[in-house]
Amino acid sequence: MSERAVRQRLQSLELAGVTCLPKTQGYSEGHAERQIDSASVRERADGSNHADQLLQVLREEVAGCQKCPQLASSRTQTVFGAGSAHARLCFFGEAPGADEDASGIPFVGRAGQLLTKIIEACTLSREEVYILNVLKCRPPENRRPLPEEVENCRSFFEHQLKIVQPEYICCLGASAAHALLETTDSIGSLRKKWFEYQGSRVMCTYHPSYLLRNPSAKRDVWEDMKRLMEAMEIQLPAR
Ligand code: URA
Repeated sequence: MSERAVRQRLQSLELAGVTCLPKTQGYSEGHAERQIDSASVRERADGSNHADQLLQVLREEVAGCQKCPQLASSRTQTVFGAGSAHARLCFFGEAPGADEDASGIPFVGRAGQLLTKIIEACTLSREEVYILNVLKCRPPENRRPLPEEVENCRSFFEHQLKIVQPEYICCLGASAAHALLETTDSIGSLRKKWFEYQGSRVMCTYHPSYLLRNPSAKRDVWEDMKRLMEAMEIQLPAR
């Protein structure tokens, strides 16, 4: 192997998350390569599965949560989160509705379908972002989460965000923005600004349910998405 090829190989191993290589005993090029290969595969498997495994453990903990007696008794199931454990971008909503309670998947009802369209208009997919809510249980009659319910769920969403470590978080509506940023400012005044949360850049926009009631606000959300995509250096097709 030439020096240049070795350098390139080491760089690609580093990108794959390999931090050390096994010592080889006695030199045989094929043997050394096989050792590097198996180390790289093992490390990549561990590295890329680790966040998924941590999310799975947390998902199981959430599924057994009984901290809010009313929600725990009325829910069909908890709604944990969906998407990539390595997402650059998280969408943070309020709480599951009837469709989410029935399916166990966030944002699948009418508001969810609109969110999916927004994600796709940004040239992304639901699979490559991560979607979560403040509350993991459906509040009865879709009422707003109570402050004590938000506090009971805080360690869950904080832990989810710590595992995913997104570069960007988009808060959908006031409940999400207030829970994450610990503010009571209106969503109107939080829009068009950047915030910081545990190393992630945070922006706020209207909740898709609000857009279903007020379609004229879609224009504002699209402006917010364009700002977000520009920050993420994701090029949007000309419209
Ligand atoms: N609204 C939310 O905030 N979250 C969902 O999952 C569905 C609707």
